[in-house]
Amino acid sequence: MRKPFIVANWKMHKTVDESVKFVKAIRDQLPDPEEVEVGIAAQAFSLYPMAAAVGKSGLQIIAQNAAAEYSGPYTGEISLRGLHDLGSRYAMLGHIERRRLFGENNAAVSQKVKAALQIGVTPIICTDETMVQKEVNGEIHYVFQQLMSVLHGVSLDQIRRVVISYEPSWAVGVGQHANATLAEEGCRMIRRTIADNYTYEIADKIRILYGGSVNPDNIKEIMAKPDIDGALIGRASLDVDNFLKMVNYAKNEEAQLAKQAPSKKK
Ligand code: 13P
Repeated sequence: MRKPFIVANWKMHKTVDESVKFVKAIRDQLPDPEEVEVGIAAQAFSLYPMAAAVGKSGLQIIAQNAAAEYSGPYTGEISLRGLHDLGSRYAMLGHIERRRLFGENNAAVSQKVKAALQIGVTPIICTDETMVQKEVNGEIHYVFQQLMSVLHGVSLDQIRRVVISYEPSWAVGVGQHANATLAEEGCRMIRRTIADNYTYEIADKIRILYGGSVNPDNIKEIMAKPDIDGALIGRASLDVDNFLKMVNYAKNEEAQLAKQAPSKKK
């Protein structure tokens, strides 16, 4: 069974003090880390003090970005070596805002993904593309060109360690209601793409998160979808009460039951 993973993406919000206060406010109210993994992707300067405040909660402190190089003359970049050293197990790479606003392309994201895997930090690979339909020998295939381009050179052994997030541009930061059916469709097709390009066994184990307008009112419906293993949450994650409601979504029996019946559709 794939362990659900709920991640806050705080983007460029919160000072160090606000970030540490937030961690202290939630750390005793998180779900059992054996059942649901919870993480916060915060600004780089907050990661160390946040990591020092997580205690025994199992909360993951996550980088929002990192460089492909481990050290050297790269002014303003964030080193994966430094992240690994502070105990950060995950780094978000290739977020739609990095791509759109800072010109990151597939080749750059791919280098970062491989550097993360090599040093032992798990990449949360963000993909925002809309599905492209292609007809091959009379059959319709959905092609995630962006994702496959980023995964170029990622081995069978390495792919087992990645997390993928599907954040379609129509849903990110636009205040629109998330459409759980379309979210599931995208995540299902990503799983199928992994099965086609790697193996079914790997595709069945890989965690795929959905991001875009997730909030306390829609998280149960989203998490009940068979191919959605978690959520990457922007705006709604900034408030302690909202975040606690979302990470504890699994207290809803229906969602739990649905998760216990993994998808056979590939
Ligand atoms: P919103 O939840 O604010 O739509 O942002 C989604 C996002 O970008 C998560 O990475």
